[in-house]
Amino acid sequence: MTRKKLVLAYSGGLDTSVVLHQLANEGDWEVIAVLADVGQDEDLDAARERAVAAGASEAYIADLQSEFASEFVAPALAANALYERRYPLISALSRPCIARALVRIASERGAAAVAHGCTGKGNDQVRFEVSIRALDPELEVLAPIRTSRMNRDEAMEYAAEHGIPVKATKKSPYSIDMNLLGRTAECGVLEDPWNEPPEDAFEITSNPLEAAQEPEQVVVEFDQGLPSAIDGEICDIQSAIEHLDKVGGRFGFGRIDMVENRRVGIKSREIYEAPGALALILAHADLEDLTLERDLLHEKRVIESRWADLVYDGLWFSPLKSAYDAFIAGSQERVCGEVRLRFAPGTCQVIGRRSPLALYDLDLATYEASDTFRHEDAEGFVRLFGLGIETWARKSPIE
Ligand code: ARG
Repeated sequence: MTRKKLVLAYSGGLDTSVVLHQLANEGDWEVIAVLADVGQDEDLDAARERAVAAGASEAYIADLQSEFASEFVAPALAANALYERRYPLISALSRPCIARALVRIASERGAAAVAHGCTGKGNDQVRFEVSIRALDPELEVLAPIRTSRMNRDEAMEYAAEHGIPVKATKKSPYSIDMNLLGRTAECGVLEDPWNEPPEDAFEITSNPLEAAQEPEQVVVEFDQGLPSAIDGEICDIQSAIEHLDKVGGRFGFGRIDMVENRRVGIKSREIYEAPGALALILAHADLEDLTLERDLLHEKRVIESRWADLVYDGLWFSPLKSAYDAFIAGSQERVCGEVRLRFAPGTCQVIGRRSPLALYDLDLATYEASDTFRHEDAEGFVRLFGLGIETWARKSPIE
């Protein structure tokens, strides 16, 4: 009898290797391992070989880099998306992208099930499963790590017993996730929120106390809300992030240390590094201040935080998120122009902005002789604006 097929989101790490072996042997699945490349800068070929050695019938590297950049990262930048005002949704954005690839491959291969290696305590299980069910409600979804609750020592023992190859490099004491947008670190000594994160928790940024000293300026140009050039050189979103990661990383800019509210009710201490993403959001939001009409701008700022909450919560594929997407996309047409950033140790600041579509009108704003503002209109405007308050005050004087 032929075995039923299952598509596994395989990371290359110990946990998913053990899961792979168990699914293939104890679960009697024909396992198709999928390594999603979302720009994490790892040796994926070596990981692919480990998947085959652990019992996969096939192991793929799915190159999702460009769809991740254009369909997930770009809208997040347009939304200036920061969860709880700080976290640029690094993992939250990659999960729906990976989930979509899993569903696509499952359908191509006629697989009956999809599996992921998330535990029961995190957000990623929510994001994978809600996304998979939104895209194909008929697919069975397995979460073997959550079900077995195997800990690290048990996983090591299992791997040794069954001859499963484990990554040779020294295991980081943290739980790491990485993609084009940045890097996340949790667990180990970071679990005590009072502990200062040790330097080994960081990888893409230098310590701001020892960082490059001489400030550096970078001009980012945007076309319809998307980065289009850096210092005059044409770029796309991917190269813009990579470039600003390098500059920001040198200055020790882009480190985030926060206590965050997970969807499953746990507060957790998280360390993030995302110099490029944070610099781009800073620049993009500043250009919006220059080019968007006041009511649209204010409404967008409200929607941005709702958008970030939805994406954090795993609701990428949801009708409310789609409706917000349409609003945000519609707001970006006029977000064109340049922003001047200055990096210095530990910081990135906007020090200038300009746009052919700027709504900033010097003749209206100036206090110099060129002023064209109709001062006489202000008197009647202010009187009517305050009329209701004035009427109320006459009836009920403030003591
Ligand atoms: N707390 C972050 C989030 O929920 C990071 C999660 C990182 N995931 C991981 N499996 N290490 O988006």
